[in-house]
Amino acid sequence: MKKLVVISNTPSPNTLKLREAVVNGAHAAEVADLEIVELDPREATPELIMSTDGLILGTTENLGYMSGLVKDFFDRTYYPCLDHTQGLPFALYIRAGHDGTGTLRAIRTIVTGLRWKFVQEPLVLQGDFQDEFADQCHDLGNAMALGLDLGIL
Ligand SMILES: Cc1cc2nc3c(=O)[nH]c(=O)nc-3n(C[C@H](O)[C@H](O)[C@H](O)COP(=O)(O)O)c2cc1C
Repeated sequence: MKKLVVISNTPSPNTLKLREAVVNGAHAAEVADLEIVELDPREATPELIMSTDGLILGTTENLGYMSGLVKDFFDRTYYPCLDHTQGLPFALYIRAGHDGTGTLRAIRTIVTGLRWKFVQEPLVLQGDFQDEFADQCHDLGNAMALGLDLGIL
């Protein structure tokens, strides 16, 4: 049984919609042997990250940086995971009112340190909210689930 973990802060209906779209996309892949776990960043522990086969992280951009909850997630998990999660298939989406670059730069640096593997270019969902953002998140969840099933990530 493989495990896909989806972690995101969801301070608004739109951001909740994005996380649900990722999870729905993963379920739509209909992979029998895949457990899909959806969490708030506060619930995510190093043990969980060490036990997962793939991680999709979502964050808002706040004040030019990732959300405080996602920063706290990295603060708590970085060193415990460092020697145990290298190569972890990882994907990122950022919901940003108008920018997203500061968040993207910071998370790229952290993930490079952890040696996690980006499985696709991060999604920066920028500007006024569009339904297409949810479609992109759905596709991300779907691709990750299928990739884990096929063993190609
Ligand atoms: C305190 C605060 C700071 C924010 N700072 C930024 C920012 O630096 N860059 C940006 O692109 N958006 C910023 N935003 C906008 C949020 O990223 C956006 O509102 C959030 O992702 C939720 O998206 P939604 O409005 O579609 O629900 C900020 C929002 C808040 C409340």
